[in-house]
Amino acid sequence: MLTSGGDCQALNAAMRGVVKGLCTNLDDVEIFGFDDGYKGLIYSKYRMLGSSDFSGILTRGGTILGSSRQPFKLMRVPDENGLDKVEGMKHTYYKLGLECLVILGGNGTHKTANLLREEGLNVVTLPKTIDNDLWGTDMTFGFTSAVNIATDAIDCIHTTAASHGRVFIVEVMGHKVGWLTLHSGIAGGADIILLPEIPYDIKKVVNAIEARNKAGKRFTILAVAEGAISEEDARLSKKEFREKQKKNKYPSVSYEIAAKIEEATGSEVRITVPGHTQRGGSPCPYDRVLATRLGSAAAKLIMNEEYGYMVGMVNGETKKVPLQEVAGKLKMVDPQSSIIKEAKRIGISFGD
Ligand code: F6P
Repeated sequence: MLTSGGDCQALNAAMRGVVKGLCTNLDDVEIFGFDDGYKGLIYSKYRMLGSSDFSGILTRGGTILGSSRQPFKLMRVPDENGLDKVEGMKHTYYKLGLECLVILGGNGTHKTANLLREEGLNVVTLPKTIDNDLWGTDMTFGFTSAVNIATDAIDCIHTTAASHGRVFIVEVMGHKVGWLTLHSGIAGGADIILLPEIPYDIKKVVNAIEARNKAGKRFTILAVAEGAISEEDARLSKKEFREKQKKNKYPSVSYEIAAKIEEATGSEVRITVPGHTQRGGSPCPYDRVLATRLGSAAAKLIMNEEYGYMVGMVNGETKKVPLQEVAGKLKMVDPQSSIIKEAKRIGISFGD
């Protein structure tokens, strides 16, 4: 078992679900917990774990196994000792006589998991990420806990923004997709929500702020995704965008947007970045239930020797989704979806 990529809430709850599901149904289960994600599998760093190691961790954030990012594109690039990382993982798998790898991770993790499947290893995966951007599941665990934290941040900003009559930006995690910003923005009553999927026109953002001022509203709150992008930048090629970013003097997108708003309106703009707090702390009850159900369903697949699947949650039911359908696909916010239309109907601006 291993947890890979950025951590999130309910990783421990999910592993507990898998282990409880196996140990109460099989007499003889050996669990190898790999340290720090794929790194542990590549370099054979692991601990033998018993079912008691998974007791009392339902509510604990982070991951008892540790995690690391091992970029997919570097998997076939030899390390400093000339080791091909995929070969390293296969070596560990066969050396230990493993029956199945249980891999908990997000998008990058799933690309590697699918590669291991193609290489002939038995793999079952679980969808974790605060970004909720994995294909094949309506919901990833970690997402709802992160929404709660980002919403709390926006709630707290509301009172101070109202007192001072200021424009505030709350920068929410999500470089490629805006689910977290969209949900926390709506839940927190943000007036403007900027997402990677809906390039913004700064003039429209400024118009929305000025319209609120004219209507006698003393403050404006923007929920801005880390990966929010202007219409102008969205028209650039990837290479041109990268070049532009290198010369960018702002620490993040929020600072650039704040500078443009200040220039256009003359009002002061404050920025709050909850950052990694969004991935921290205890999982919320929803995520505990989701992770437990997904873990338990994964145990069933393993008992049935059905490998090569991610366990997703689709329309309230756990579902096995072939790994090749999940790997390399992002679940993005559809600008034409009803949630966006409903948000716009109540006056939220997306700057488009
Ligand atoms: O993938 C989850 C995530 O938290 C993203 O929302 C965020 O952009 C990124 O990870 C941050 O990564 P790191 O922890 O490596 O800085």
